[in-house]
Amino acid sequence: MCGIIAYYGDELAAPILLEGLKRLEYRGYDSAGIVTIDSKSEFQIKKDIGKVLEIHERLNLMDLEGTTGIAHTRWATHGGVTRENAHPQISNNNKIAVIHNGIIENYKELKAKLISEGFQFSSETDTEVVPNLIEYWMRIRGLDFVHAVFNSFQSLEGNFALVVLDRDSKTIVGSKNGSPLVLGIGQNNDFFLASDIPAFLDKTKDVVYLYDGDTVIITGSSGAKRSYEILDFRTGNPVDRLIQSVSWDIEHAAKGEFDHFMLKEISEQVETIQSAASQDREKIQDIIQRIKKARGVFLIGCGSSFHACLSASYLFSKLASFHVNAVLASEFSAYEDFLKEDTLVIAVTQSGETIDVLDAIKTAKQKGCQIVSIVNVMGSSATQFADESLFLNVGPEVSVLSTKTYTAQLAVLTLLAFSLAGKYEEGLRRLKYLWNIVYNLTAESMRIRIKQLADELSSHDHIFVLGRGSLYATALEAALKIKEVSYIHAEAFAGGELKHGPISLIGKGTPCIVFVSKDTESKILSNAMEVKSRGGYLIGVGSHKIDTFDEFVKVPESEELNPISQIIPIQILSYQLAVILGHDPDRPRNLAKSVTVR
Ligand code: M6R
Repeated sequence: MCGIIAYYGDELAAPILLEGLKRLEYRGYDSAGIVTIDSKSEFQIKKDIGKVLEIHERLNLMDLEGTTGIAHTRWATHGGVTRENAHPQISNNNKIAVIHNGIIENYKELKAKLISEGFQFSSETDTEVVPNLIEYWMRIRGLDFVHAVFNSFQSLEGNFALVVLDRDSKTIVGSKNGSPLVLGIGQNNDFFLASDIPAFLDKTKDVVYLYDGDTVIITGSSGAKRSYEILDFRTGNPVDRLIQSVSWDIEHAAKGEFDHFMLKEISEQVETIQSAASQDREKIQDIIQRIKKARGVFLIGCGSSFHACLSASYLFSKLASFHVNAVLASEFSAYEDFLKEDTLVIAVTQSGETIDVLDAIKTAKQKGCQIVSIVNVMGSSATQFADESLFLNVGPEVSVLSTKTYTAQLAVLTLLAFSLAGKYEEGLRRLKYLWNIVYNLTAESMRIRIKQLADELSSHDHIFVLGRGSLYATALEAALKIKEVSYIHAEAFAGGELKHGPISLIGKGTPCIVFVSKDTESKILSNAMEVKSRGGYLIGVGSHKIDTFDEFVKVPESEELNPISQIIPIQILSYQLAVILGHDPDRPRNLAKSVTVR
């Protein structure tokens, strides 16, 4: 995935675009670039490999002239990390600039056709075909810019969000087809296009959520003459979309006093778990009716979101005696034959843009299933496909790692489980009361305590994690958190599975984190003993210290809510490990915040 930001107005574009790029960097951080149109109607371009600020230090991205420009931060898919492959990509005649998020699947055929027409290519990207296709339709086939763009887009296969800048007509066109793009309407009749709202949140809160096919055309260089219209590139027909106001503040998208977004977002959980639990009661009841009426309920997600689904599947069963299937979205097609019109699919996704989740939703829709989405990003693709959506209400999550959105997903799913059991009020009360515990878990004293633990663990190559019941899902999530940000190999096992093989990995001093709850205590402690008696080093997470533990992190017993509270110290541990080992916790290597490739 990549980040896109465009500006069209009266202010200098470069500072706005640079700020936007910094806020979008979680989407890709191997190269970045900006192009503006200067007073002589020429392109001014700067791009390079590296993180946005590194590039800015080398090239000074602020001194580009002009009040119109587009910018991009890249997460490489087609073509390595090189300056040539960085965006913007420019047409052969140097008149069309393009930035792109997504994949153009048929780019090889298009490229071959363009080469046969005499076009030359300087990058290995799929994107470079787009500006050249537009040039082809304009220069060789005589179309105006907008028609050339529409013809070009109609020939593209795959998922994309594309923003095109035409030097001569000073027009920006942005189009969404499977990858996110949102239009911002500024106070001075100026316009923004971006992959995500925080990119321009300091400038405006008025946004238009775009749907697949929507193509925004922004023209009219100055003041009142500037305007936009939205057409569907597939049909050419105008599309009417509402301007909506977002409730997020710019503070949500800034680090504030924290060194990293990851720590800020972990700390925010005192409030975010509560805001996630504050759902519209009627909507919850509507979803409960859908669940009750359904013959077969699937909870689907990827990564942390899948762990939230798995955790909830235990809760639905224990609390409400209701069976749901928690399935990895990327494996969902294997269940296609079980989907009927009365099947309900609940898609859990922070971004609402994960391609594996969207593919699964589309499969389910084709079979006539009902779709409910549990999403953080309003207006995202998952919400556009869903019959009903619940929002996490936790503001933007900037760090690549899911932390506050994971516990928010658990809070929403927990509320659903309680409601399904006819205990909505109790669920809500218990979730609201949890702030007491979360407050202590995110306090400075806990961070200091966990830092000591991280100092001990940072020299290890492997860390194992054990849990039972819903805390098995917590163990999976803990292992994911540790490995994705510290790069230490971490692996989770259901306590009972240890003796079926993994125990052979335990040797003298092997660290093993054990999640303990009241209902799993006796069994998980026997598993812990099995580790201990083979020399393992036990780190217990639970309500009271047991002699067997070498280290202990106290988390008060919260019964059904344990998965929400017990993960928090391990989120902090993962963060501390990354810092000690010199890794950037917000931008772990090889990862992107939302995965829009298969
Ligand atoms: O946006 P989504 O919730 O659909 O994203 C799913 C996963 O890509 C995500 O949870 C990923 O595993 C994170 N890196 C976890 O920290």
